[in-house]
Amino acid sequence: MSYQLFAKKDLRVLLTETEGETAGLRRALGPINLITLGIGAIIGTGIFVLTGPVAASNAGPAIVISFVIAAIACAFAGLCYAEFASVIPIAGSAYSYGYTTLGEIVAWIIGWALILEYAFGAATVAVGWSGYINSFLQDFNIHIPPAFSAAPGTEIVFYQNRWERLSSLHHVAANVLAALPHVNARFDLPAFIGIVLVTIILVIGIRESANVNSAIVVVKVAVLLVFIGLGIIFLSRTHWTLATLNWHPFIPPNTGHFGEFGWSGILRGAGIIFFAYIGFDAVSTAAQEAKNPGRDMPIGILGSLVICTILYILVALVLTGLVSYTNLNVPDPVALGVDKTGVAWGSFLVKIGAIGGLSSTMLVMLLGQSRIFFTMSHDGLLWKWASKVHPRFRTPYLSSIVIGVAVALLAASLPITTLDELTSIGTLFAFAIVSAGVWIMRVREPNLHRPFRTPWVPFVPIMGVLVSVLLMASLHGLTWKVFVAWLALGLIIYFTYSRKHSRVQAEIGRVAPGRPGVVSRG
Ligand code: ALA
Repeated sequence: MSYQLFAKKDLRVLLTETEGETAGLRRALGPINLITLGIGAIIGTGIFVLTGPVAASNAGPAIVISFVIAAIACAFAGLCYAEFASVIPIAGSAYSYGYTTLGEIVAWIIGWALILEYAFGAATVAVGWSGYINSFLQDFNIHIPPAFSAAPGTEIVFYQNRWERLSSLHHVAANVLAALPHVNARFDLPAFIGIVLVTIILVIGIRESANVNSAIVVVKVAVLLVFIGLGIIFLSRTHWTLATLNWHPFIPPNTGHFGEFGWSGILRGAGIIFFAYIGFDAVSTAAQEAKNPGRDMPIGILGSLVICTILYILVALVLTGLVSYTNLNVPDPVALGVDKTGVAWGSFLVKIGAIGGLSSTMLVMLLGQSRIFFTMSHDGLLWKWASKVHPRFRTPYLSSIVIGVAVALLAASLPITTLDELTSIGTLFAFAIVSAGVWIMRVREPNLHRPFRTPWVPFVPIMGVLVSVLLMASLHGLTWKVFVAWLALGLIIYFTYSRKHSRVQAEIGRVAPGRPGVVSRG
């Protein structure tokens, strides 16, 4: 049998295949529900955790500019996602768009990159969650053994009755630090447990109801608004002198190394903090349930992006105004910031909000991961066991368990910045392909019915590709090496297994040339 690298799924067949699912789903979501869904997936470790280390190590107060650059990249890609989501309103997101428009090998590469996005993304969120859990428990004098509280290699010291990361005690004199008890962490147990718990929920299939999701979104947004409010009141009481001091220099000078302050630091900061926006693409997977996808998909995607961008910029400004960026390399920066305002309940509120809010982000990420695995396996591109459904729970339990164990181990053993950069590079790569795909499809299929049309094509798709590639280029060399190795592994699996078991390839082999309706050739 001859294989066609660019074999495509027929759009009509794809829509018929998913009809069964659609029949069970009601078109019940309006624009507000879609925006809420987006915010629920977006707000998480990015703003609650990564803001600290990125300000401390890459951008300083200019992390605000990093947030703006990352938002622009997302807006271009978001407009392209919106067009695809309105044309192909099915689950599976970028992978399915790729399969119907660009061909199997491209779909494989996107799917493989999305595994990186969701698996490493879930691990990143779990590490952020662990930081807040550790800090919250210590407020009540409960100490997780330090060796099991963070990624291997993290140096932990006992300072003022708490186990703290050495890297966060920048402000303490060296001779004081040297005299403190030191422990080298070996395993991040809370992060491991977090992923295991979420996996159990996914296996037994307790779907987050829309109401629970909305409640968590309200909590997350409220906590950030309270933080902004308390911060502004406090800073205005000092007549902004504290903020003026902390915001100076707004763009700290480059240290001589790429990515450490100056403009290259802002750019690398944008590549890392881009993580904070990941999740708006989740809106596109709800296209089947939207009342009016043509109008509401872009409202949901862009609306959630705009709201999060405004919140993020305000949080970053207030945080770097309250605390000098040099002291922000902590696992719970927003809690540290609110402490400065002197409001006793502030820190408790922020920690509870972060712990609850990050749990739902973890769930969305692992759910996305198991859906991608399931769809790829259903198409024959991944092993059959990955789409095996549990007879009672009706969930793809085997893939959830395998992924859950792998992600839990990753979360327990790698530092947050490594996990975050791998997530960002995988997602940016998928963004670049989706953006290019919109333009290619406009040229190839100009008459396709598009309920939503990306404006200014080809400008917006070209910018989507360029900004994504620019942000990818700003990430560490090591991230690139792992990414290239990941893609190489993916291609080995594709050529040795996937194309031989692909349903689309089998159909090409069986269907007489010229017979319409099953697959179209690339
Ligand atoms: N945007 C999500 C977060 O920041 C993934 O956790």
